[in-house]
Amino acid sequence: MAAMQRLLKRTVAITNPHPRACFSSLRSSASAADNVASPPLIPPFDHQPHPYNGPSADEVFAKRKKFLGPSLFHYYQKPLNIVEGKMQYLYDESGRRYLDAFAGIVTVSCGHCHPDVLNAITEQNKLLQHATTIYLHHAIADFAEALASKMPGNLKVVYFVNSGSEANELAMMMARLYTGNLGMISLRNAYHGGSSATIGLTALNTWKYPIPEGEIHHVMNPDPYRGVFGADANSYAKDVQDHIDYGTTGNVAGFIAETIQGVGGAVELAPGYLKLVYDIVRKACGVCIADEVQTGFGRTGNHYWGFETQGVIPDIVTMAKGIGNGLPLGAVVTTPEIASVMTRKIQFNTFGGNPVCSAGGLAVLRVLDKEKRQAHCADVGSHLLERLRLLKERHDIIGNVRGRGLMVGIELVTDRKEKTPAKAETAVLFEKLRELGILVGKGGLHGNVFRIKPPMCFTKDDADFLVDALDYAISRL
Ligand SMILES: Cc1ncc(COP(=O)(O)O)c(C=O)c1O
Repeated sequence: MAAMQRLLKRTVAITNPHPRACFSSLRSSASAADNVASPPLIPPFDHQPHPYNGPSADEVFAKRKKFLGPSLFHYYQKPLNIVEGKMQYLYDESGRRYLDAFAGIVTVSCGHCHPDVLNAITEQNKLLQHATTIYLHHAIADFAEALASKMPGNLKVVYFVNSGSEANELAMMMARLYTGNLGMISLRNAYHGGSSATIGLTALNTWKYPIPEGEIHHVMNPDPYRGVFGADANSYAKDVQDHIDYGTTGNVAGFIAETIQGVGGAVELAPGYLKLVYDIVRKACGVCIADEVQTGFGRTGNHYWGFETQGVIPDIVTMAKGIGNGLPLGAVVTTPEIASVMTRKIQFNTFGGNPVCSAGGLAVLRVLDKEKRQAHCADVGSHLLERLRLLKERHDIIGNVRGRGLMVGIELVTDRKEKTPAKAETAVLFEKLRELGILVGKGGLHGNVFRIKPPMCFTKDDADFLVDALDYAISRL
């Protein structure tokens, strides 16, 4: 009933009917199209964007092409010039408001320009921006203490870095130093970074350059939707044992996995997988690393950390993105014993844990607690998933809806049985959603998965708007 009221509130007369594209082999029932005759409207929001007097999208794009690396890519045929953000919304140069369902690639956790985070950064900026850890400063120590208090078991020692790639590089180095072994195991379809060391852990050919990677074993992905063993964790775990038995000395340095694959398209690991694999890896003298760069800080709803959804405690946890709500910040948290391997030489990071990022990071932790964002993600996320699953019943193009909390994937296929990736249709719908005022992410090896990972202040009205817009757009494919 409440959902229906929300739907009625937002539905208006047709002002902008979209022409039909010709992907008619996919079934979308006539009644589905009838239900969504009008483009849904973005929920109301009380914020007036500042007047924008800066360069136009075309000017920025021209300058970027001239002076920035040619490998930079952008979303949308006509790239968006985003000039302001407030909580879960973004504004372009014309002042048009968009629902941000991707959070700057799963990075804005509390909300764009959240006042508490802004205040903490501003106050610290006024006093001291930088001095490095060669001097004492309370901000880094306070933040490390607060972060450690969120961790289970003996995960009590923090190293701060500036990004997720750096965090995973440091974790891999610790694993190798601690065990004296070189071999690392990661999952196919994983993304752990684009630096020259982490590119080896990443297992999506679209992101890999042909450079030396060291000893890395990419094991079968325990993907319940596409994996050959479905959700049978035991069979996937056996593949890990096989790699160790056949491809290594019998010992490894470590195993790393995201607990829900992000760039890979919000893929959840088969239930029980991590428990089995952690046992296998530890028997081979390796350490277990959880990459929480996307899944951490309550985003998955039922748990604060993604690894908790699998009932395991890792030896090393890496984090970035949401930890700083947009600040360049990453962290590696581990046990005192593993952390101590770094004392064998000098380990230093110029910006890691600088006062401004530390003050901001501490504010993020406090906001997430104060605003009960984990419970909010569980509540809004289950509403979103429920509505998306109903939408799947009406549109054959939706092959799979998955995820937890506000970490959701919608995989589009042209044939449900064959699971053929609907690449072209995804690209069309992606543009349509933007036209309707919604920015989502894309992922998966074939780019056929919509990634819905908004700032954690995303509401049920926002979720309804997103689902209605998707319904509207698919009905007109
Ligand atoms: C799971 C995961 N790990 C690591 C990284 C690398 O983080 P960064 O881009 O901050 O280096 C990413 C980035 O998308 C990620 O999604």
